[in-house]
Amino acid sequence: MRKTVYFILLALLMLVLAACGGGGDDAASGGAAAGKALFAQPIIGTQAGCSTCHSLTPDEVIVGPSLAGIASRSDEAAIRDSILNPDAKLVDGFPAGTMPQVWGDELSGQQLDDLVAYLLTLK
Ligand code: HEC
Repeated sequence: MRKTVYFILLALLMLVLAACGGGGDDAASGGAAAGKALFAQPIIGTQAGCSTCHSLTPDEVIVGPSLAGIASRSDEAAIRDSILNPDAKLVDGFPAGTMPQVWGDELSGQQLDDLVAYLLTLK
């Protein structure tokens, strides 16, 4: 009898642990972790994803500039603007019209916030 109670308690404990685990960087909860996952996606909506053009290795150019250290040379407003209005201020040496101009429509407000939060971690 005692053994059975102990076993049931153990089973309950395992259930509780399973329910609590794995929630950590769930994309639905947003923030930098969600932005990181989004950045890595090969395709976002109808567009080639960020990582198809942007490396995270310093000075490595794929199509666009590497975003390594972006948080050290830019700020939140400028990063947001370069996603929504890529041609408004061009990075030296890169042509206009290359980065998709449609992120304002393709990304939800939450996705944009998540991406900016992630890029701000790249010091
Ligand atoms: C088709 C290629 C391409 C894709 C896809 C792309 N970019 Fe870009 N991106 C560029 C190019 C080229 C530039 C440099 C010219 C300019 O400033 O617009 C740039 C510039 C930037 C800059 C400014 C960098 C700096 O040093 O100031 C940021 C930030 C940026 N992109 C973020 C993103 C994010 C986030 C995504 C995904 C949502 C993305 N890009 C998708 C090509 C791309």
